[in-house]
Amino acid sequence: MLEIKEVSFKYSSRDKAGNDFPALGPISLNIESKDIYAVIGPSGCGKSTLLHLLSGVINGHAGEILLDGKQLSPKRHSIGFIPQSYGLLPWKTVEKNCLLSLKIKGEKAELNKKITSVLTRLNILDLKDRYPKELSGGQKQRVAIARALIMNPDLLLMDEPFSALDALTREEAQSLFIEVWEEYKPITIFVTHNIDEAIAIGNKILIMSEGPGKVIEIINNPLFNQKDIREKEEYFKLSTYIRSIIKNGWRVNSHE
Ligand SMILES: Nc1ncnc2c1ncn2[C@@H]1O[C@H](COP(=O)(O)OP(=O)(O)OP(=O)(O)O)[C@@H](O)[C@H]1O
Ligand SMILES: [Mg+2]
Repeated sequence: MLEIKEVSFKYSSRDKAGNDFPALGPISLNIESKDIYAVIGPSGCGKSTLLHLLSGVINGHAGEILLDGKQLSPKRHSIGFIPQSYGLLPWKTVEKNCLLSLKIKGEKAELNKKITSVLTRLNILDLKDRYPKELSGGQKQRVAIARALIMNPDLLLMDEPFSALDALTREEAQSLFIEVWEEYKPITIFVTHNIDEAIAIGNKILIMSEGPGKVIEIINNPLFNQKDIREKEEYFKLSTYIRSIIKNGWRVNSHE
């Protein structure tokens, strides 16, 4: 379980008054193993900041973050992080980028089998010898996902990983991701701007307030892992409800 206890974060200020800038929280969450949290919130509310804190890219937060009872740390835990800009190394091929995540010394044949299986499922096996600059945005996103999943992380953090895809490819990428995720089921936090995507991905949907972002609501998603969700009445109800929160300025309507 991932426990986020009263976590808040301020960036050190560069303004004349010298005030630090509160970017996040305080927020508290208990995320169970095998949960995928889809996180939506207004631009600038602190979603990327939250993922940067969890991945150890930035530190210095108030509050506590525990994974399975121990303080979360990239030294202790394996954390897969797909940043908003893919995080691929330009001078390494697709295959070498994928191998980077494997700190564990496995049998070479075993590792190759794993890479081949994940790349095949994500439809990018034929690209394994290419360099990132030879890939489209969507292909880069798939390589980043393959890399994060191959390492079999304790915690998977994804920052708008499908934002560069057109609508149809995006839906395909979502289903593919859930299919591959099913094999490993790491605790996952998936940031998106897209309501439709939040409903397609998350078993929980977390809605954040304007910055410094706090938790407005956590919705149990009844449509998680179902087929053809966009044709269901529950889908329409849920997306209308989330839209009403956004229209209300990212606040739950107290009259409802
Ligand atoms: N390095 C930084 N120094 C100072 N302020 C920062 C820094 N990075 C982000 N911020 C500010 O912190 C707030 C939260 O930023 P963050 O990137 O976490 O938002 P976000 O929710 O991911 O937004 P978006 O949806 O646009 O990606 C914003 O007001 C942003 O301007
Ligand atoms: Mg962001």
